[in-house]
Amino acid sequence: MCGIVAYIGSQKAYPIILKGLKRLEYRGYDSSGIALYSEQIETCKRKGRVAELEVWDEKITETATVGIGHTRWATHGEPSDANAHPHTSNNGQLTLVHNGIIENYASLKQELVQKGYTFKSETDTEVLVNFIEEIQKNNDYTLEEAMRVALKRVVGAYVIIVMENGFPDRLVAARKGSPLVIGVGEGEHFLASDASPIIEYTKKVIYVNDYELAIITQDEIILKNLGNETITPYIQQLDMELAQIEKGGFDHFMLKEIFDQPASLTDCLRGRLDSENQILTLAGIDQHLSIFTEAKRIVIVACGTSWHAGLVSEYIIEALCRIPVEVEYASEFRYRNPVINSGDVIIAISQSGETADTLVALERAKEQGAFIFGVVNAVGSSIARLSHAGAYTHAGPEIGVASTKAFTAQLTVLAMMAIKIGLEKKTLSMSEYKRYLAELALIPEKVKTVLDTHEAIQKVAIHYAAARDFLFLGRGYNFPVALEGALKLKEISYIHAEGYPAAEMKHGPIALVDEHLPVLFIATKDAYYEKIVSNIQEIKARKGKVIAVVSADDTLIRSMADHVMEVPEVDELLAPLLSVIPTQLLSYYIGVELGLDVDKPRNLAKSVTVE
Ligand code: G6P
Repeated sequence: MCGIVAYIGSQKAYPIILKGLKRLEYRGYDSSGIALYSEQIETCKRKGRVAELEVWDEKITETATVGIGHTRWATHGEPSDANAHPHTSNNGQLTLVHNGIIENYASLKQELVQKGYTFKSETDTEVLVNFIEEIQKNNDYTLEEAMRVALKRVVGAYVIIVMENGFPDRLVAARKGSPLVIGVGEGEHFLASDASPIIEYTKKVIYVNDYELAIITQDEIILKNLGNETITPYIQQLDMELAQIEKGGFDHFMLKEIFDQPASLTDCLRGRLDSENQILTLAGIDQHLSIFTEAKRIVIVACGTSWHAGLVSEYIIEALCRIPVEVEYASEFRYRNPVINSGDVIIAISQSGETADTLVALERAKEQGAFIFGVVNAVGSSIARLSHAGAYTHAGPEIGVASTKAFTAQLTVLAMMAIKIGLEKKTLSMSEYKRYLAELALIPEKVKTVLDTHEAIQKVAIHYAAARDFLFLGRGYNFPVALEGALKLKEISYIHAEGYPAAEMKHGPIALVDEHLPVLFIATKDAYYEKIVSNIQEIKARKGKVIAVVSADDTLIRSMADHVMEVPEVDELLAPLLSVIPTQLLSYYIGVELGLDVDKPRNLAKSVTVE
């Protein structure tokens, strides 16, 4: 994680970097810093949010037109002024920002200490900057040469941007494993971890690839690989508007993004679903249909909320396509030496497209010959580029740390994929196919209907905001929604919450039930309805408080539950798209009621670029 921003041009660098860091705060927000170069390099760094840097009032903030900045999510060393980036090398010549982890930093540090280097911080980054200095000094190398040599010895992931004393008109950056975008302006360049700090200045961007090094001046970008061969930069046009990354009148990004869902799902379906003519077009699938229809197995690899979307898709793909599906935590998958056979298809799900565990798991699977299909939100991200094919979720930028609209867009893409593959495999009949398409077309409107009940959900939230624990239960397609609901509540409100398959509750969690425990059932009308009614009885019999997400026409559960949250009727296969919405709103309103920073919950980061 961590966010980095840099600027070189003729405008004042400080406000551009400060604003950019604020946009990247979702990547980490426990300390931040900026280094500017005017007469010399000066640095300001502070524990806490980026806003802490606003107090910097030295002359250099008015004069410098070059600088680098960083917002941190601590890995090595606690959040503190000293551990904040940028870090400067012992001879004061090099100052750098870093996103990633240097895994062999301890041995490098030992080498450096033996040579007399001293360290002000506990970070791996300070080791790296001194390691580059050491190589540069010993060999009389240019910065670029020293970086190339140093980075060959570094194990881990990084994006670094380096400023060097004596070279006020040049930044040098390098990437492996963490993201870096360069914005190309008129006589100026912007560097950042993603495009959000860049978008208001230019829409022309270059995504730097792994093992590439960029030498950037006001007017020029020279891109090279670590073998010192020059690469022609590929300039892309960003398809993103500034308004998409602003709050648009909502109190928080999270609320805006929850309310975005009718529009984001419409965007996700646009150009793909033609329900009038019953056509579903998914280019990434269409071009590789036989790979999917002949797949022996599908392995879904993801983390966090995206993993929950994977679980829902397991149910959907197995039901519609009759292909065995396994859903894997990327971090476990990559280290377990998994069996990958020819005929296996790997589907990677990721909002950011940068999650390190997912990325590395895919690299391993790709090396073993697997076909990788990416279901990714961030266009041009590392996972999107690593995949053989894919389908973007088109949810638009998601800024709130807790994922909401990305989840429903992921589900929508995965449902479309399953419907398409099922028809082609003939495991799905034409009449069912048509029915699902008609149902899908109605989803955005139905999501809006759920959102219209937000005031009722807010009341439920206020009622339960003081709870210490929560249990979320669901069955079938709604079981992963229970997991996602619990995760959302934990992330946003710091209330302990567990998600379980409703029937599994009898094998342990039921011991927790008493009159103080709210139990949230995802209990929309589906094949398990009767069963879940019994589970609700079991909770009621033990005096637990029951909150239920129910279908609009439900009367039975309504009569049993303490509180209900209603969603329109929909085919059970698509039910998660609706039933998750009340859980998102509930978490949001509880977080707000508790006075918490729902957009930036403690200890979390949106894009987890460390393993
Ligand atoms: C972090 C975020 C979660 C997200 C997970 C996976 O933990 O806070 O919201 O679900 O990473 O991220 P990805 O970008 O790969 O979907």
